[in-house]
Amino acid sequence: MEYDLLELQDAIRKVLMPKRYLHSLGVQYTCAALSMRYECDIMKAQVAGILHDVAKCYDNSEQIRRCEKYNIPISDVEREQSYLLHAKLGAYYAKSKYGVEDEEILQAIAFHTTGKPEMTTLEKIVFLSDYMEPSRRMIPGLTQIRKLAFEDLDLAVYTTLHNTLNYLKSNGQIIDNTTNEAYEYYRGIVGNK
Ligand SMILES: [Fe+2]
Ligand SMILES: [Fe+2]
Repeated sequence: MEYDLLELQDAIRKVLMPKRYLHSLGVQYTCAALSMRYECDIMKAQVAGILHDVAKCYDNSEQIRRCEKYNIPISDVEREQSYLLHAKLGAYYAKSKYGVEDEEILQAIAFHTTGKPEMTTLEKIVFLSDYMEPSRRMIPGLTQIRKLAFEDLDLAVYTTLHNTLNYLKSNGQIIDNTTNEAYEYYRGIVGNK
């Protein structure tokens, strides 16, 4: 499939708030840079990057409503922490509204928030780019992850999951099981290196 990045950028600019559009552009470009480093498909990574937050144009309750409408399964944790739903709903819109049929791109969008075990290089790149793109507000460990992402992809994914879990726990938030599974999986990978 041929993708038109300018067209996608234009479409996203129209539906997202300016700050989130800037974030999406940042994710797109960071995806491109990491794809160069890890010899991933640069176009596919950019498509996933620009589209990953498309469902953020809806507030949380509207996201729940739309998932129900399209029969997208909602777990208990997702119902409680409904910001998680924009990932799955985003993958749905990438396909239905923007014509993306590539399963790897759709999966990368669907799991950009939680991560998951056994991610492909593209999925890891989208997951990391969302966390580290240039306009992200500075948080502890971010400078290290930005550097690490270009040195060791799995270690960067592990460190990001570690930091995310710590952040969620310190805020008393319930944690999606997929994030825990991803963390355990990458802890094993990194530990065996
Ligand atoms: Fe997101
Ligand atoms: Fe994002």
